[in-house]
Amino acid sequence: MNVFITGGAGYIGSHTCVELIQAGHQVSVFDNFCNSQPEALARVERITGQRPQLYQGDIRDADALTYALKDSQATAVIHFAGLKSVGESVQNPLAYYDNNVVGTLRLLQAMRACDVKALVFSSSATVYGDPHQLPIPEDHPLSTTNPYGQTKLVIEEMLRDVHRSETQWRFAILRYFNPVGAHASGLIGEDPQGTPNNLMPFVAQVAVGRREFLNVWGDDYATADGTGVRDYIHVVDLALGHLKALERLANHTECEAINLGTGVGYSVLDMVKAFELACGKTLPYQVAPRRAGDIAACYANADKAERLLGWKAERDLTAMCEDGWRWQRANPQGYGQI
Ligand code: UD1
Repeated sequence: MNVFITGGAGYIGSHTCVELIQAGHQVSVFDNFCNSQPEALARVERITGQRPQLYQGDIRDADALTYALKDSQATAVIHFAGLKSVGESVQNPLAYYDNNVVGTLRLLQAMRACDVKALVFSSSATVYGDPHQLPIPEDHPLSTTNPYGQTKLVIEEMLRDVHRSETQWRFAILRYFNPVGAHASGLIGEDPQGTPNNLMPFVAQVAVGRREFLNVWGDDYATADGTGVRDYIHVVDLALGHLKALERLANHTECEAINLGTGVGYSVLDMVKAFELACGKTLPYQVAPRRAGDIAACYANADKAERLLGWKAERDLTAMCEDGWRWQRANPQGYGQI
C-alpha cells in the first residue's frame, strides 16, 4: 500500500515509518519540522534501507497538501501532525485550534479532492478526561480539561460527522495512552525541544546528565504509592498498532475509536525504578506539589484492539526502559547533535 504520513518525522511518526516500510508498504512523509528533524528520516533509511519520499510543508497549506497527496499516489493517510503540549495549549489555544483542527480540516478536504478516503488518526486518552471507570473502555464518556484535549475531541467528532454523511470513508481513531521507549536500534527516539513535559524523556535526561533531578508531581494520590499511575506503551508496539489499523481499513468501511494501551498501570516511582535498572544509575528525584490538571490513574481496557485489529502490546516495562536508554545514551542531545 502507498501511505501518506503527516508528521512522519516526529516521535511516533518515525517509528511508524519503520514498521510500515518493513511490512512492505511505500511511505511518503509530509512534515513542516516544527517539532522534529529531517535527520529522523535519514535514520529511518539507516534502519530500513529505504528513505521515505519527503514533502516539506504545513498541513494548513491546502495547495501544498493537495499537491503532495496527489503526487504521492497514496491510497491511505496516517495523520500525526499536530501540536501536543497541554501547558502550551492553555497559553495559546488559538495556535492549537489552528494547527490541529484547521490542519485536519484541510487534510480531509485534500483527501476528498484526491479521492483518498482512508485515514488513521492520532487521538489520545486525554479525551476520557478524569476517568470514572478503570480500565477505560472506548465507550467511556468523553470530556477534556484543556485546549489540547479539546482539539482531539473536536477532530474525533468531525471524523464521525464526515463518516455519517459519506459512509464510504474509512476512519480508525487511535486513542494512545503514554508512548515511551525507542526503536531497539537506538537510532530513532523521542527528541523533545526544550524542557520535557512528559515523564520518561525527563527521566532519560536526568540519567544522561542533562537534568539534575526529577520533580515527582505529587505523592498524595489515591494510588498504591501515592504517585500518578499511567498506561505506558512501547512506541514500537504503538507503531505496529497503526500498521494493523491501516490493514483493517482496506476491508472495512467504518469509523472506529480504538484504545492503544497495554491495560497495565505503573506509577511514577515504578517508572523511575525500572529506568534505574536499565541505566545502572540512581536517579535523584524530589517530591513536588501536584501538577495542575493531572489525574490519579489512567489505563486502558485494550480488548477492542485485540478483537478488531488482532493487536496486543508485547514489549514490557524492561524493554521500554532499555530501548529508551539506548537511544538517550547514544544521542544525548537527541538529533540536535548532528
Ligand atoms: C500528558 C498530557 C496528556 C497528553 C500526553 C501526551 C498533561 C496533564 N497530560 O499525559 O494530555 O496526551 O501527555 O504524551 O500534561 N510526572 C512527574 N514529573 C514530571 C513529568 C511527569 O512526576 O516531570 C508524572 C505526572 O504527574 C504523571 C506521570 O508522570 O503522573 C505521567 O506524566 P506525563 O508523561 O506528562 O503524561 P500524562 O500527564 O499522562
